[in-house]
Amino acid sequence: MFPDLTRDDVFRIETRRLWLRWPRAADAPAVLQLAGERAVAEMTARIPHPLPRAEVDAFLLDVRKRNAEGAGLTLALSPRSDPRRLIGIVGLFPGEDGAPELGYWLGRPHWGSGLMAEAALAAVDAYFAYAGGEALQAAARLDNPASRRVLAACGFQPAGRARKAFPARGTEVTVDLYRLDRAGWLSRHAPAAEAA
Ligand SMILES: CC(C)(COP(=O)(O)OP(=O)(O)OC[C@H]1O[C@@H](n2cnc3c(N)ncnc32)[C@H](O)[C@@H]1OP(=O)(O)O)[C@@H](O)C(=O)NCCC(=O)NCCS
Repeated sequence: MFPDLTRDDVFRIETRRLWLRWPRAADAPAVLQLAGERAVAEMTARIPHPLPRAEVDAFLLDVRKRNAEGAGLTLALSPRSDPRRLIGIVGLFPGEDGAPELGYWLGRPHWGSGLMAEAALAAVDAYFAYAGGEALQAAARLDNPASRRVLAACGFQPAGRARKAFPARGTEVTVDLYRLDRAGWLSRHAPAAEAA
C-alpha cells in the first residue's frame, strides 16, 4: 500500500504546527493517558476503555510493523515545538473490506484548534501523492460532528450510512460513511485558473 519512502522510521511530514512521525515505544505513556480517556475511546472502533498498558504496547509494535511492511501508515502527531511529545494519532490502514481507511484521534486537551484537520489533510496527501492511492474511506459515529468536520475539511464526500463493527465497544454502531477518490483529491490540488 505504501512505498519505500514511508517504510523507514525516519519518515516525517511537517505541517504548519505539527510533525507527523512514526510512533515509538516511548510514546506508550502518552497514548495510555490520552487514548485512555473515555471521550476519545468511545468514538473509536478499536480503543478499549479502560485501556490496558499491554494493549498500548501491542498497538505500537503492530503499527510500526505495518508501517515497515508498507501495509499501512500510522503516524504520531507531535507539536513542532516538542517533536518527542505525542498528542494524537492519524492512520491509514486496510478497513474491514480491505479498502484503505482513514482513522484518527487527538488528546482531549488539544481539541478545538483544527489540529486534526491539519494532520489528516497531510496523511491524505501522503496516501494519494506518495502511495498513488485510488480511494480512501472513513466512517464517523452519528454523534461525532467534530470528526465529520475533519473529513469534510479533507474533501471526503458522504457515502451513505451503515452499521459497522466497533469491536472495542462490543457492538455494531451506526456510522456515516465517507469517501474520497483520486479525482476528488486532485480537484482540490488543481492549480488556480490564471487571471485573465
Ligand atoms: C474528532 C477529533 C479528532 C477532532 O479533532 P480537533 O482537531 O479537535 O477538531 P476541531 O475541534 O478543530 O473540530 C473540527 C470541526 O468540528 C467542529 N465541532 C467540534 N465539536 C463539535 C460539535 N460538538 N458540534 C458541531 N461541530 C463541532 C469544530 O467547530 C470544527 O469545525 P470547523 O472545521 O468548521 O472549524 C477529536 O475530537 C477526537 O479525537 N475525538 C475522539 C476520537 C474520534 O472521534 N476519532 C475519530 C473517529 S471517526
